[in-house]
This record gives sequence, C-alpha cells and structure tokens, in this order.
Amino acid sequence: MDKRIPIVAGNWKMNKTVGEAVELAGLLKQNLQDVKDREIVICPTYISIFAVKEVIKNSNVKLGAQNMYFEKSGAFTGEVSAFMLKNAGCDYVIIGHSERRQYFGETDEGINKKLHVANKEGLIPIVCIGETLTQREKNETFSVIEKQIKTGIAGLDAEQAKKLVVAYEPVWAIGTGKTATPQQAEEVHAFIRKLYSEIYGKDAAECVRILYGGSVKPNNISEIMKQPNIDGGLIGGASLKADDFIKLVRY
Ligand code: 13P
Repeated sequence: MDKRIPIVAGNWKMNKTVGEAVELAGLLKQNLQDVKDREIVICPTYISIFAVKEVIKNSNVKLGAQNMYFEKSGAFTGEVSAFMLKNAGCDYVIIGHSERRQYFGETDEGINKKLHVANKEGLIPIVCIGETLTQREKNETFSVIEKQIKTGIAGLDAEQAKKLVVAYEPVWAIGTGKTATPQQAEEVHAFIRKLYSEIYGKDAAECVRILYGGSVKPNNISEIMKQPNIDGGLIGGASLKADDFIKLVRY
C-alpha cells in the first residue's frame, strides 16, 4: 500500500484571539505553500474557525476543531456540533484530548459516541489516548492504552478504520518539556498498531496514522519522526509560534 502521509497538526488549545489566529494562519499559509509530502492541520478555538478558514482556503493548510458535541443541533447550551464544524470548513476534529478527559470528565464511552458522529458528518477524527505518570510508573501503560482503544475506538467500518488518526499523547509529556524518548514512543506506537491490526485487520493497521504528542519541539521532532510507527505529531505549545511550527512542518 502507499506510504502513510505524515501529519503535522497544531492544537492551539485555549490560545489566541480571532485577530491573532488569523495572523498566525496567514503566516503559515504563506510560508508553507511548497510543502506537498505531508499534511498540515491547525486547530484553533471554535470562535476563530470561520475566520481562519477564510485565510487558508485554497491552500495546503487544513482545518481541525479541538472538540465537538455528538448531537447535531438543539438545546445544548455552549456546545458545537460536528455538522456545524464540517459546514464551517473543518476536515479534522480532535476527540478525547487528555485535557478533556482530565478537566471535563470525558470517558472512553463518550469519546466513542463522538467518533461515530464525526465519521458520519465527514470529519476525520484525531482520537487522543495516553497514560498518566502514575499509570506508567505502575506498569499500566499498555493496559490503559488497550482499554482506551477497545472502548473509545470501537465499532468502525473498514473505510473508517483506515482513515482514522490516533494521537498517542502520554499525559506526563504534555506541556511539561519532558518528551517521551523516541524509543519509548515507538514502543507504544507499535503496540497500538498491533492492537489495531487485531481489531480492524492488517490493511487498516497499515493505513491508520498514529501521531505522537507531548512536548514536540523543532529540536526533537526529527528523531521522533524517524521511528517506523510514528506518522506525525500533534503539537501544543510549539504550534503557537509561526517560526516554530514552520520548522516542525519541515522536520
Ligand atoms: P505540548 O506540545 O504543549 O506538550 O502539548 C501537546 C498536546 O497536548 C497536543 O494536543
């Protein structure tokens, strides 16, 4: 099969006003025009999505959202649906980020529900999984990942299983400056692909892109990307500065 196209995705989290988001998107569009061998995705806050789309349309920079709600519309104050995100120009949606799990009580069951709605609306889900420091220290990394996949990523059809993006983000590496070593990351990525193969078959496992996230910076991305089972990065802090993100995309 064709080689998996790497993805470099920026998760802007709760940062940037609309004006700042538009400015950053403009710089990325301008400076990354020639990049063809990898996908570039930026995920601004909900309020900046529409304005950012205007800036990056007809470019190679794609748009993602950081979350979604599983209902399509109605009396759900404060929520935004997958249908609306697609309509506003998103191609991707991050689901189950560890900050959503930690601070907003998201569960694997709820994440699975969102995953199916995202697929139905034509968004490509980027499903986040990863263990906490305590879980790693107790040698629970693989069992935690297994549960997150078996419950959170259950029930896909063959096409959906190929298109899905998984992001392995060890919670202890997020925003801490402590990245997993390339070997530590590769070990978990290989495990995820093997498990995925058992559930969805060899073809799907060869197609699914597994991103690493957690303190990825311009100076460590190339070692990370050399690992055979790492297909890109989901980047927080370093995606907020044009210079850094440009370097990351050009790893
Ligand atoms: P940092 O790159 O800031 O560690 O964040 C990673 C992350 O959570 C991306 O979703």
